[in-house]
This record gives sequence, C-alpha cells and structure tokens, in this order.
Amino acid sequence: MAFKIGLLGLGTVGTGTAQILLDPSGRNPLLEELEIYRIGVRNPEKTRPIQLPPGAVTSDLESIVTDPDVDIVVEVIGGLEPARELILKAIAHGKHVVTANKAVIARYSDEIFDAANDAGVYVLLEAAVGGGIPVIQPLKQALGVNRIRSVTGIVNGTTNYILTRMQTEKADFADVLAAAQKLGYAEADPTADVDGFDAADKIAILASLAFGGRIKLEDVYREGISQVSAADIAYADKLGFVIKLLAIANREMLTDDPTDRLRLRVHPTLVPQTHPLASINGVYNAILVEGDPIGQVMFFGPGAGAGPTASAVVSDILNIAAVLTQNSFLKTHSSKLHPLLTCTHQHYCKIAPIEELTTRFYARFLTKDRPGVIGKLGTSFGNHGVSIESIVQTGFQGELAEIVVVTHDVREGDFHQALDEIRTLDTVDSIPSLLRVL
Ligand code: HSE
Repeated sequence: MAFKIGLLGLGTVGTGTAQILLDPSGRNPLLEELEIYRIGVRNPEKTRPIQLPPGAVTSDLESIVTDPDVDIVVEVIGGLEPARELILKAIAHGKHVVTANKAVIARYSDEIFDAANDAGVYVLLEAAVGGGIPVIQPLKQALGVNRIRSVTGIVNGTTNYILTRMQTEKADFADVLAAAQKLGYAEADPTADVDGFDAADKIAILASLAFGGRIKLEDVYREGISQVSAADIAYADKLGFVIKLLAIANREMLTDDPTDRLRLRVHPTLVPQTHPLASINGVYNAILVEGDPIGQVMFFGPGAGAGPTASAVVSDILNIAAVLTQNSFLKTHSSKLHPLLTCTHQHYCKIAPIEELTTRFYARFLTKDRPGVIGKLGTSFGNHGVSIESIVQTGFQGELAEIVVVTHDVREGDFHQALDEIRTLDTVDSIPSLLRVL
C-alpha cells in the first residue's frame, strides 16, 4: 500500500468511505494504493456493520493526526470542535486533509487555508456541498476559465423534501416537518436545515470558489422556510411557480468589472415552473452555474447519504493520491504522468449485444380495422414472453387503424422475434414506429 489514510469518524459518511476504500475492485485502480491505516471513533467497542482492518480503530483522534505514517487525514466527524482543531493539527503535521465539514470550512476557511498553504498540503472538500454531486472540483477546474455570473442552488435536501411534500400534499409546514422527522428525513433539531443555516454555509463555500475570494459567513442573507404556507404554494402554482429554498450568489453586474460586489442570499423563492431548478424535487440537490462564455450548466444529484457523500470524499482522497503518485514516481506506476489525467487502461471492455438489452418498447402499428386484431397482437407478444403494459387504438390513418403498444421490460431479442411474427399477420399493414422507453 502506498498511501495511508487516517479516518476521523465512522458515522454514516465515515462508514460509506471505509466501504469504498475496502472494496476497490471495479473502481479506479489507484484506489488499490490506499490503505485505511487508522480510524478514530468515540467508542471503539461499538459493533460496526463493516469488517475493519484489525487494530486500526482508536478513540485517540489526536494520535492519528500526529501519526508520522499517515499521509491523508479524512475528517468526517462533523461539528465545529474538535473537527477544526484536528484539521489544523493534521495540517501542522504535514498531512493532506479531506473534509466533508461545510460548517468548519464556511467559518474557518481563512485560517485553515492559510495554514495549509504554509504547510504545502491540500485541503479538499468536495463532500461539503451537494453530497455526491461533483461541483467543487468543476468550479475550481473545468469552469475556471469562465467569468462566473451566478451560482444558484437547491443545496439543502431536507427543506427541498419538505417543500416538495407541502406542494404535492397541499399540507402545511409543521405537519410535513413532523412527518419528515418521523421518517428520518429531518433532524430532531431541524434548525440548521429549515432556517437556512446549512444552505448559507454551502453558498458561502460555492461563492468563494466561483468568485475567487474569501466570504464572511455573516454576509450571507438568510431566511428559512418555516413561514411558507400551503396557501402560498397553491397561489404560486396558479401563477406558474413552485417555491424552493434557493441559495444564490451573483455579481451585481452594474458594470463590466469582474470585481463588482456580490449578492449572497438564502431564502424561499418563487421559481418559474419552466426553470431548470423547478423540477428538482425531494431530497435531491442541484446547482445551476451561469458564466461567460459557457452560459448555463447544471449539476444535479443526491445531496446527502452515506454512499453519495462517501463518493465525493473518496474522489478527493484519490485526487491527492494522484498528485502524490506523480510527485514520487512510485515504482508501481512507471509513468511520470498524472494518473487521473492520463489514460492507463489498454484492455477492451466487454460489450453486451443489443439483442440482450432489456428495455420497455413503444410500437405503433397500422392494421386492418377488424375484430380480433388486438387479440392477435397480444398472442404474438405472449408467444415470445413480451408482456404488454398498455395497448390503445389511437385512431385511423385512412382505412387503417392505428394501435399503440407499450411493453413492460423485455429482452430486445424476444421483442424483435415477436415483431417478426406480427409482420406475418395478414391484418397488420406496417409498423411505422418503434422506440425504446426509458
Ligand atoms: N442536512 C443536509 C441536507 C445534508 O438536508 O441537505 C448534509 O449536507
């Protein structure tokens, strides 16, 4: 193993992270170079759902961030302290740091990044905003050539879930919040989410990256969703809007000066039903970035949860491992190229033939308008194991009846065999349309 990981925290995200690191097969080969070397937890005696490396678990978190053998410290304990202190201590001991901690980064990024720059180590935080959605790295890299005009996000899954249910059930905030708490979608103390604090942390981080400057968290204007009523949502709907908790950062654009003042805010917002963010429902997150010359680009995905957040955490670990690999020209990697930027594989992937695809189909038939035609279609489909989801006669084209069929999932090869049989029926004139259904 080339790189030793010190994992701080084995809650939801920590467990998801360990699961990926302990099961690298089928993922980026660089993951094979990562070892979970030490794991810091509050209670080492607790039974865990995963098999951990023997002897790795300790309650002495400080011994991990000061361990000379640890290369990368992964902080997923959350909360302000001792997370902040451990991150700073890890940096002081020359460790690279990966963190999912938006609260710490939004408040203490100045001291953390000053320390990291002085120590010559990376602090990466993809998981801090948008859970599994890659948005931090794109803002730093792929979108970096753009002059960003705005970042507009649904970055809090709890409030989006509540607003979505209020809309679909025409229910009031308090009732939906109570239901969401019962289901575990909202915390027992929901303040951080429903009052917009979590979203404010996240937009402060995104704005800092998008606009290339430090942000003071207290400069983010913030309103939560507890004042939104079922009546507001109903009126908004009549007017062609949905209500979303948006976190928005944009330049004032009073002049062409890219250093113009920023506007930073989190508040419930009426969003036109045709806007790309209007259809982001439930616990999902999405971040719309507008810039010059790219125009609009939107990132969508799961904003929380063990697997998605761990995916973001491990992607950061991998990025650091790639840089370290390149720096040290490890023997296992003969090339001097950056392992994540070069192409390392040479084998051909196995491709399944299209006949083996399983999908739903839409087919439109033109047939003679006679009794028994639909029955014959059904029989031919049944002969080949094709189950029909719906079948309707939609009208006529001249003398011919038009029949539309949507199937359940079927093997493509079986479906075509059924069609071959159907083409031989004297009542079937033609099959003008054949489309796959997602
Ligand atoms: N509490 C957050 C949310 C998840 O509801 O989106 C973690 O950032």
